[in-house]
Amino acid sequence: MDKDSYRDEQLVELYDSDNAARDDHGYYRTLADTVEANKILDFGCGTGLLTRALATPGRVVIGVDPSATMLGYARRQRGAEAVTWIDGDATAVEGAGDVDLVVSSGNTMMHLSPEAYPSVLTSLAEARAWAHWNRSETYTEREIPSGHLREWLEVTEVNHGRVVFDAHNVFQDGREAVYTSVLYFRTAEEITTDLERAGFVDIHVHGGWSNESVAKDSSTLVFQAKKP
Ligand SMILES: C[S@@+](CC[C@H](N)C(=O)[O-])C[C@H]1O[C@@H](n2cnc3c(N)ncnc32)[C@H](O)[C@@H]1O
Repeated sequence: MDKDSYRDEQLVELYDSDNAARDDHGYYRTLADTVEANKILDFGCGTGLLTRALATPGRVVIGVDPSATMLGYARRQRGAEAVTWIDGDATAVEGAGDVDLVVSSGNTMMHLSPEAYPSVLTSLAEARAWAHWNRSETYTEREIPSGHLREWLEVTEVNHGRVVFDAHNVFQDGREAVYTSVLYFRTAEEITTDLERAGFVDIHVHGGWSNESVAKDSSTLVFQAKKP
């Protein structure tokens, strides 16, 4: 669809005043409190009425929307500074990293065509292992034959499942060796489709090495397939 069907400033203002008091806002606020969400993504946030209401102290709240007019309006409102606003659609969601709760209110999901819908759901559900690849969460120290080693990971670039990261290794003598790597993350559905296209049959996918079912936070995908 048109990325900015809400492109008229006055209509956007009218939308905002017409939607100021909606029953669903209370529902989402309670949900966020109940699941103790510290990081929330509001997908298709529009003028940010709900997004700003979710932004309580200590919480990270991110609003994503492809309409420049809607998002421009959202950015100018009181309390907007408590939210991180991202221009874009589902392809921009990975820039938000891992979140505790995704909300999508006011018919946003009904704006998605049948063709776009499955991949949007996948983007929202995708486990993002790389979201934790930063110095503080990956830092370790250990002994290796040449002495003491300090090591950590740092992501430098994320783009549509393409993740670039540096693996830092500081050896006993203080020398730091950095190994830069590029990984392409694909969903179970994407890999299954690719295997089918390549002619494989009898495809089974598991979420771990003990035949676990695939869950939305599975960090390992194990495939078995037969060549006919
Ligand atoms: C009816 S408004 C709802 C706004 C807000 N969530 C609310 O509850 O007030 C629908 C929003 O969906 C956004 N939208 C349309 N297509 C989208 C897409 N492909 N991905 C994300 N958002 C989209 C529009 O820009 C618009 O801001």
